[in-house]
Amino acid sequence: MTQVKTPVVQRLLDPDWAAGTLADDVRRGLGALPRTLPPKWLYDDHGSALFDEITRLPEYYPTERERHILQSNASAIAQQSGASTLIELGSGTSDKTRTLLDAFAATGQLERFVPVDVSEATLRRAADEISHAYPGLQVEAIVGDFTLHLGQLPTGGTRMVAFLGGTIGNLYVEERAAFLGALADSLAPGDSLLLGFDLVKDTNRLISAYDDAQGLTAEFVLNSLRVLNRELDADFDLQAFSYVPFWDPHMERMDLRVRSEMPQRVRIPGARLEIDLGSGEEIRVEISSKFRPEGIRSELAAAGFDVTGAYTDSGDDFAVVLATRTPT
Ligand code: SAH
Ligand code: AVI
Repeated sequence: MTQVKTPVVQRLLDPDWAAGTLADDVRRGLGALPRTLPPKWLYDDHGSALFDEITRLPEYYPTERERHILQSNASAIAQQSGASTLIELGSGTSDKTRTLLDAFAATGQLERFVPVDVSEATLRRAADEISHAYPGLQVEAIVGDFTLHLGQLPTGGTRMVAFLGGTIGNLYVEERAAFLGALADSLAPGDSLLLGFDLVKDTNRLISAYDDAQGLTAEFVLNSLRVLNRELDADFDLQAFSYVPFWDPHMERMDLRVRSEMPQRVRIPGARLEIDLGSGEEIRVEISSKFRPEGIRSELAAAGFDVTGAYTDSGDDFAVVLATRTPT
C-alpha cells in the first residue's frame, strides 16, 4: 500500500498580520471615501464556514456549475497541462479540486499539490484530508496571500496553477492586472493557469445568488465587521448595519456593502482610527465581477497567457479556461 505523506505547511503570512496588514488595510480603506474593506479578511474560521454553507445554497450556482465543468473536462485538462505540480490559489476546502486530483491520479503524473490560502485552519484541514485521500501525493500547503506571495511559489517540474471558484472576480480591475502579471512572472513557459470565472447573466439570478433567502451571504459580509471587532478591538455594533448587495451594470460586478442604519461613531483602536458614519452611509466589503470570455482572453493575453482550452456548462453560467504561460 502506498504510504500517506505527511503534509508540510509553510507560513508566509506574517504572524502579526492583524497589527500589520489588517490594520494598514483598514486605515487605508475605511479612512478614505468611498469606504472599503479588502475581502480577504472575510475568511476567518467563521467566514470560511459560512462560505462553505453558501456554496450549498440553491441560489448560489457557481460552485455546482464549476464542479460540473471540471467533472466533464478534468482528464483533458490534466493531460494538456502535463503538470507534475498542482498549485491552488485561494484553495479553501479544495473540495472541487479533488475532481482534478482524481484525473491526475489516473495519469500518474502528479507528484505535488500546493494549496495556498490565508485561512489557516481551513487550509490545514484540507491539506490533511487530501494527503489521506491521495497517498503518494506530496502536499505542501502555504498559508499565504496570493496578492503578496506569488514570487514564493515552489518551482521545479511543470506547474499548473488553479484559481477556481470565480475568486478572480473578487479583485478590483487594477488588482486583477497586477495579480495576473505577477503570476505570469512567477511561472515559466509551459506552466499553465486553470482559471474559473463567473459569466455575466440575468441580473435577477445574480442578485438572488448574493442575497439568499436564508441570509447566509448577509451574515458572511457582516462578519467582516466582527473580524475588525476581534482583531482590532473595534466597536462595530452589527445590529446597526444592514447588508446591501446590488448589481453594477457599468462595471459588470456585484457590489456587496454594509450600510450604517444610524449616525454613529466607530472606534478601531488597533488601526488608530475613529470614523463617523452618517445614516445610510455604506462600506463596500466585496465586489464579485462577472466576465465575458473575450474579455478574460484579452486580459490573459496582456499578462502573458495563451488560452489553450475553454470550457463552460450547458447554461453558459460559469467558465473555466486553461492558459499556458507564453515564452517571453
Ligand atoms: N477555491 C474555493 C474557495 C473559494 S472562497 C472554491 O472554489 O470554492 C475564496 C478563498 O480564497 C477562501 O478560502 C479565502 O480564504 C481565500 N482568499 C481570499 N483572499 C485571499 C488572498 N488574498 N490570498 C490567499 N487566499 C485568499
Ligand atoms: C469566493 N468568491 C468567488 C465568492 C463570490 O461569489 O464572489 C465570495 C462570495 N461572496 C458572497 N458570496 C460568495
